[in-house]
Amino acid sequence: MKKYIPIEKDSLQLSREKEFVHSKSQRLKDFYHDKEKYYSIDKNLLLPDVDIIFSLFIQKSLEFEPLLLALENLPVGLTPEILGYEGNILIKSSDIPLYEKYIKSLNGQNNNPNITSDNKNASLMKEKSKIIVKDMLEDPTNTQNIKKCGEVIEEMVYSILNKKELFYNLISIKSHDFYTYIHSVNVAVLSIGLGIAAHLSNEDIYNIGIGALLHDIGKCTVPPEILNKIGKLTSTEYKIMKNHVIEGEKILKKHPNFPEAALTAITQHHERLSGKGYPLNLTGANISVFGKITAVTDCYDSLTTPRLDKPALTPFEALSILVHECEHYDSDLLKTFIKLIGGIQQ
Ligand SMILES: [Fe+2]
Ligand SMILES: [Fe+2]
Repeated sequence: MKKYIPIEKDSLQLSREKEFVHSKSQRLKDFYHDKEKYYSIDKNLLLPDVDIIFSLFIQKSLEFEPLLLALENLPVGLTPEILGYEGNILIKSSDIPLYEKYIKSLNGQNNNPNITSDNKNASLMKEKSKIIVKDMLEDPTNTQNIKKCGEVIEEMVYSILNKKELFYNLISIKSHDFYTYIHSVNVAVLSIGLGIAAHLSNEDIYNIGIGALLHDIGKCTVPPEILNKIGKLTSTEYKIMKNHVIEGEKILKKHPNFPEAALTAITQHHERLSGKGYPLNLTGANISVFGKITAVTDCYDSLTTPRLDKPALTPFEALSILVHECEHYDSDLLKTFIKLIGGIQQ
């Protein structure tokens, strides 16, 4: 029998390998933290004839690189190359107040020949909601933040009830990466749409809207290296991630302005009719209609949003998965959701 003789690596090769592994893990660590320092904006609101006073960045693999620098926040114009950039455009999170001022200044103007005023209004509403959710994730105990969440949902429900097309304008704004604040707004829009299609009362539509907007608020307690991790979570990391449901409930129970009736959208969005969900493994009749709605909309948005290690599924592919796993979802709500999404104006 031949004896296997391992080839000894020389010390230089070993130290190079160690250095490579170390620099890769350091790059990943930096990326998980850096991702929180940048904020993803809607490039539909960057206009050819309106200067901006904040810098723009793009993400290339694990690095963030400047696309346009507004030195000392002096106004700077946008070139056709920047306006035509296909990927995700970000700003520094510290520049959000400048960006907020900028989008407020766009209200009432329609100076982008490339988008319709309906699309622009949808973009403005979505950007406003994203900033409010980001503020809430950073300061979840602030009563002003929750008040603003209520106001933005009221406006969204009212606007969609008055103009059904706005729902389709809102869901047609694509995300280029997964951010909790964008996902939260998407799940709110989808849940309001499903609530309307399922003929819920106006009060319930408001409650499902605010519940869905804050369904993942407990993620503010999850460390960025777990929240932004590329690839599979370890069992310990998954446990910490799953805990966002309990943490979210704790946060919102303390808010007198958060409607108690909306709480099950937070506590039950990961429960499944089959009993295979969490945290309580509830089954069928024990899950509220808000829990059943957010289970569908949360899963659909996660599947249709790209991540660094996973491309986005098309609406058709995502719906096919929901149908394939239909034992987890309420069949009437799933049918209504398929009809609703089937109405997407592409
Ligand atoms: Fe969640
Ligand atoms: Fe979620």
